[in-house]
Amino acid sequence: MSGERERWSSRPGFILAAVGSAVGLGNMWRFSYLTAEHGGAAFVALYLVLTLLVGLPLLLAELVLGRTAQSSPIRAFLRSGSKAWRPLGVLYVISGCTILSYYGVIAGWTVRYAGIALLGFDAEIADRFEDMAQGGDAFGFHLVFMALTIWIVAGGVSGGIERAATLLMPILALLICGLALYAATLEGGSAGYDYYLRADFSEVLSRGVLTQAAGQAFFSLSVGMGAMLTFGSYLGRDHHLPKESGLIAAADIGVAFLAGLVVFPLIFALGLSDKVTGSTVGALFITLPQTFAEMGGVVGRVVGFLFFAALVVGALTSAISLLEVVVSSVIDLFDWSRTRAAWVMGCLITLLGVPSAWSLGVLDVVDQVANNLFLLGGGLLLSIFVGWVMRDPEAEARVGAERFSGFGLWRVSLRFLVPVVLVFVLYDAVPKTLRAIAELVSGG
Ligand code: PFF
Repeated sequence: MSGERERWSSRPGFILAAVGSAVGLGNMWRFSYLTAEHGGAAFVALYLVLTLLVGLPLLLAELVLGRTAQSSPIRAFLRSGSKAWRPLGVLYVISGCTILSYYGVIAGWTVRYAGIALLGFDAEIADRFEDMAQGGDAFGFHLVFMALTIWIVAGGVSGGIERAATLLMPILALLICGLALYAATLEGGSAGYDYYLRADFSEVLSRGVLTQAAGQAFFSLSVGMGAMLTFGSYLGRDHHLPKESGLIAAADIGVAFLAGLVVFPLIFALGLSDKVTGSTVGALFITLPQTFAEMGGVVGRVVGFLFFAALVVGALTSAISLLEVVVSSVIDLFDWSRTRAAWVMGCLITLLGVPSAWSLGVLDVVDQVANNLFLLGGGLLLSIFVGWVMRDPEAEARVGAERFSGFGLWRVSLRFLVPVVLVFVLYDAVPKTLRAIAELVSGG
């Protein structure tokens, strides 16, 4: 790439951007439905363990690799290892395109729901979900959301991504905390806390649930597809990467937990608990709008709007990191200008979202492919690369963190623990995903 590599303008700016990437629909949409489906607090505990033991070492690995290579995924593996690893960079770019293509569709629903919330949800909102979520309108809102994402990314690393995160993340924190406090005042909400915080371990002791929890840990932390690697490539050598990784993971876990403290009491306070379905969209797009409709009046409108506004904000700061993986790679590879790379790739990804915008069935399968194959597979290969192939990653990680004593543990976990857990999980995830693809193809 010609010219100097772009840089974050400040440490807090980088951290906010990385937290912005991590905190998104995953924390609110996926986390709440998976928790509802798989035994409440027991699932939360499993997700927590996987985040700390598997996700966090990989997050640090991505940041270290990105900072060392000072390049996007497409070149990073080449620069820090051998030619044989180059396809992994390509996989990361494909993952970025795939995830953003349907993430933008779901984010489009949230934009639409924020607007409807202002006018007031009506009692039939739940029945209309399937119509609203599929078809030309869904694509239209996806388009609007993608245009906003592209515009921010075209603004550059510090002028676009960092500036947006610095503005939006405090707003998101205020919204979530405010909503959690409001939910705590609701009469009847305590049944929601019981449901959320009571552990049912009989649900989580299966390989299938482990797969879901691992997929969720990766998706939520944005690891396994080079987003954090790309963000790391804009870092200088004065960052304490272990500390900053810990901070990012803590913020991500914190927001997911808080989101549960919003969603469950709200649903239970209005007596809609039997409607917490295990479907991908259940809790968030069907039950909650009904909740806001039943609240009625100004309160229903305001709370509903603020809730979906929080989702839009979270989705936007995550979507920009997904697009940045692709844009940064195209800039490194073809020497395009940032504006051109952002608009061309952004428009292509928007078009790639057409099948997901037209069919919930397709969206669901693409989500499974992205999580179960791309992120988990991408994470496994990354752990092998940094654990076994990369030259002295510990020395690289130590720069800026000379006094940190956990590097030995980090390396051991990347070499042994992370690959073993991921192979175990993939053994279940791969056939399941292939079956889902086959069903979709044969059914339609
Ligand atoms: N972490 C985001 C969320 O929880 O919504 C989604 C995401 C962003 C996944 C970036 C992967 C990624 F690279």
